[in-house]
Amino acid sequence: MSGLKVLVVGASIAGPTTAYWFAKAGAKVTVIERFSELRTGGQAIDIRTAGVSVMRKMTGMEAQVRAHSVQEEGISFVRADGRPYGTIRPSGNPDQQTLVSEYEIYRGNLSKVLFDLTKDDRNIKYVFGEQIVSIRQDSDKDGPVAVEFANGLKTSDFDLVVGCDGAGSRTRAMGFGCGVRDHIFPTRLWAAYFSIKEDLLKGSKIGQGFNAVGGRNISIGTDPEGFSRIMLMGTHPKEYPGTTPPFREASAKGDDALKKHLAKHYEGVGWKADAAMQQMMYSDDFYGSEIVQVKLPSLHNGRVVLVGDAGYAAGPTGGGTSLALAGAYILAGEVAKHPGDIEAGLQAYEENMRPLIKTFQKIPPIVTSFIAPQTAWGIWFRNHIFAFIAWTGLVEFVSKYLAAGFASSESFPIPEYRWPSENKREGDL
Ligand SMILES: Cc1cc2nc3c(=O)[nH]c(=O)nc-3n(C[C@H](O)[C@H](O)[C@H](O)COP(=O)(O)OP(=O)(O)OC[C@H]3O[C@@H](n4cnc5c(N)ncnc54)[C@H](O)[C@@H]3O)c2cc1C
Ligand SMILES: *[C@@H]1O[C@H](CO)[C@@H](O)[C@H](O)[C@H]1NC(C)=O
Ligand SMILES: *[C@@H]1O[C@H](CO)[C@@H](O)[C@H](O)[C@H]1NC(C)=O
Repeated sequence: MSGLKVLVVGASIAGPTTAYWFAKAGAKVTVIERFSELRTGGQAIDIRTAGVSVMRKMTGMEAQVRAHSVQEEGISFVRADGRPYGTIRPSGNPDQQTLVSEYEIYRGNLSKVLFDLTKDDRNIKYVFGEQIVSIRQDSDKDGPVAVEFANGLKTSDFDLVVGCDGAGSRTRAMGFGCGVRDHIFPTRLWAAYFSIKEDLLKGSKIGQGFNAVGGRNISIGTDPEGFSRIMLMGTHPKEYPGTTPPFREASAKGDDALKKHLAKHYEGVGWKADAAMQQMMYSDDFYGSEIVQVKLPSLHNGRVVLVGDAGYAAGPTGGGTSLALAGAYILAGEVAKHPGDIEAGLQAYEENMRPLIKTFQKIPPIVTSFIAPQTAWGIWFRNHIFAFIAWTGLVEFVSKYLAAGFASSESFPIPEYRWPSENKREGDL
């Protein structure tokens, strides 16, 4: 596919991975990101199954992920006066260690690893603080599309536009001619993250979680750099079916409105939460969103195609990150495999992804979801259940039982592709 011009929208997880694989296939890739720099927010996510297989194919990535993985020594659940109910620590027992992924990493750090892996590639150009205004496709949808930008990039033709702009994708809305909320299936859950400069845990490497009345849950994690990572999580109130829940309403108005809403919601919650909530107002990596699934009848329309949460957010089941990694690899692989016939490549991407999407979007039975939590929310649920297990003294029994079920989720075959760049001699590119 030498010479193919590809526009990737979004520089989080799916975006840089898509750029990596298209560049490997010989395409010229432009990545645009709406924010003025790489976003660093988010909690621990983990890479599993198909995601691990793709990671291992990306030169140097596994070592980088290990180097930046989360090193919490445990988590404890506390009462309002700070006394813990129970503390979970990795046991040093190899069977039990398998319960915690080796590839647990903060989302922002993973994004940085992927960015660093791609930023110096001569076939990849990153443009921050840019977004699309319009996408024009010919009526037969079989030819380059003209893309117009908001902030200075000049209007150009691209052979392919890949929307990697998350669950609320505007690329999807523009490319598929639908509303921004179309194809989004909300759960009742929401979550928000931010970091604050103060180390609320005073050097301890054991995170703390607190469930206050009114479903106001808050956890504090540690970072080796000596700051705190806060996560808030909750459900929409029951009285809001059909009408817009307050979290969604605030979220639609932007981060400042959402911060204000959350500050009010958590007012007087007690414990260390008051200090955390005060500092939230000044945090620069705040991220809050409803936990949603995205489901589409087709992943492409003409020359606009979706990868990651934009096309198949997995929601509370986890899997969003692994699915994004697999999607980026398979899309580039299939387009490269069908030279001169992009439509056939996109069709093959669709066919290869469907079974994976189906698996990762299935709300799994509770056991699978906490053996293999693939996102922060999954990890959070697991930790809650772990707290209960530790509290009741069932640790030995449960860990033996779970370790057995764990291995089976590890094998997830992905297609093998031959990349044009691998057939060339050094200096040929
Ligand atoms: C700041 C942040 C924090 C997150 N924290 C968590 C977390 O703690 N736990 C968890 O499970 N998941 C979290 N997620 C979601 C998680 O990254 C995804 O579920 C998954 O990794 C798939 O990633 P993605 O690249 O498909 O989408 P996303 O990670 O959602 O990335 C989309 C990217 O596109 C950019 N973008 C959006 N609109 C436009 C536009 N119009 N033009 C250009 N760029 C645009 C966004 O700024 C973002 O960088 C977070 C996402 C972000 C952006
Ligand atoms: C993750 O990234 C932050 C910067 O956003 C950095 O301070 C921190 O040290 C990184 N953590 C790890 C474990 O690499
Ligand atoms: C939050 O905490 C409450 C206790 O106040 C608990 O019952 C609930 O399950 C938790 N919910 C979520 C989604 O975090």
